[in-house]
Amino acid sequence: VTVPAVVRPAEAADAPLVRGLLQELGYEARGFDASFARVVGAAPTRVWVAEGDGRVVGVMSLSFTERLALGGTMISIDELVVTASARGRRVGAELVEKAKEVARELGAARVELHTRRSRESYARDFYVKNGFVEVDSALLRWEP
Ligand SMILES: CC(C)(COP(=O)(O)OP(=O)(O)OC[C@H]1O[C@@H](n2cnc3c(N)ncnc32)[C@H](O)[C@@H]1OP(=O)(O)O)[C@@H](O)C(=O)NCCC(=O)NCCS
Repeated sequence: VTVPAVVRPAEAADAPLVRGLLQELGYEARGFDASFARVVGAAPTRVWVAEGDGRVVGVMSLSFTERLALGGTMISIDELVVTASARGRRVGAELVEKAKEVARELGAARVELHTRRSRESYARDFYVKNGFVEVDSALLRWEP
């Protein structure tokens, strides 16, 4: 990416590109198409893509939850990925900046995310460098 990336809401036509990016993150969900169709075009915008050199090089998906304990909305960054050839050029930072901008506009109480400690981005302190603070938290899961 030689030009600064532009972050814009994802559109229906971005589905195959977004699917490819999620594969780079290690996800290959059978229900992807239906899931994407449910959230694309939703307000507030749930899926954002970064475009650089006329192609989509990154995606970030958000979800919004009303948290009683916070007395407001919590925004979660559910997926974030920049294609390997475009990494290290602040595209990821731009996407995270968009999440913060959405939070400010909405008056949200918090932006949160889960990541794996084994990911390279965690080792490189990507989130800390972008203003996030690691908290003491346990993640538990149930899957049918
Ligand atoms: C994490 C990720 C989204 C960051 O996106 P990005 O566009 O590379 O991020 P940035 O360019 O804003 O910042 C990356 C940092 O790594 C450095 N970097 C340099 N070359 C790099 C490269 N080839 N690959 C990755 N990072 C590189 C950047 O300089 C920057 O560090 P700095 O702020 O100390 O200079 C992206 O690397 C990615 O998709 N990784 C794989 C998936 C992943 O881990 N996702 C997050 C977990 S859910």
